[in-house]
Amino acid sequence: MSGASLAGRRLVVSAGPTFEDIDPVRFIGNRSSGKMGFAIAEAAARRGARVVLVAGPVALATPAGVERIDVRSARQMREAVIGALPADAYIGAAAVADYAPAQVAPGKIKKKDEQLTLELVRTPDILAEVAAHPQRPTLVVGFAAETHDVEFYARGKLEKKRVDLIAANRVGVAGSGFESDDNALTVYWRDGARALGPAPKTQLADELLDLILARWPA
Ligand code: PMT
Repeated sequence: MSGASLAGRRLVVSAGPTFEDIDPVRFIGNRSSGKMGFAIAEAAARRGARVVLVAGPVALATPAGVERIDVRSARQMREAVIGALPADAYIGAAAVADYAPAQVAPGKIKKKDEQLTLELVRTPDILAEVAAHPQRPTLVVGFAAETHDVEFYARGKLEKKRVDLIAANRVGVAGSGFESDDNALTVYWRDGARALGPAPKTQLADELLDLILARWPA
C-alpha cells in the first residue's frame, strides 16, 4: 500500500445513496452502503489530506480526521458539495438518485387503485456541476456503476460530464459494486485506462488515490 502524501490538499468526497421522499413514509433511492466512498475518505485523511465527506443515509462510522456532512436527498448533497468548494479534488463515489418525485406529498399516500403513477423530475447532476464550476477542483473524479457495456458508458460519462477520471465498477454481480466489502474498478481517462482489483474497497481506495496523485497536474 503506497503512502504518497496528500498533506496540504483538500478533498471533497461523496458517498452513499440519496433518498428522494415520496411522502413522509416512502422514498426512492439507489443501492449503496457508502463503503467505497468512506474508504476513500479514510485513506485520504490518513495521508494527510483535509477531507470533507458528504454522506447520504448510511450506517457507517466517520473515519478518523474526516469532516462529515450528512445529507438525505440529491438536492441536499448538491448544496453540501458545492458549499465545500474550493477543493483540490472532488471524488464522487455517491450513488445519487437520478430522479426525484416532482412533489413530496405532505401526508402518507393512501392505497386506492391497482396502479399509482408518480411524476419524477431529474435531480441536479452534482458531478457535472462541480466539473463546470468556476471553482473547479484541479481533479474531478467520478464513478460509473454499470451492469453491462462498462467501458462504453464510463467513457460516455467521462466526456459528457467533463471529468478527469472515471472509476467504473460492475454492479449486479457478486463481489463488486454496492454493499460488498470488495470491488473491482477500471479507471478511465481521456487516453488511458487502468484496472484495479478485485480487492477490498479499503485497498482499492489507496490504489485509486495513487492513480489520482500520478495524474495530478504538475
Ligand atoms: O457504496 P457502496 O456499497 O460501497 O458501493 C459503491 C458504489 C457502487 C456505489 C460506487 O463504487 C459507485 O459506483 N458510485 C457511483 C454510483 C452511481 O450512481 O453511478 P452513476 O453511473 O449513476 O453516476 C455517475 C457519476 O455521476 C457518479 O460519480 C455519481 O456520483 C455522479 N452523479 C450521478 C447522478 C447525479 N444526479 N449526480 C451525480 O453527481
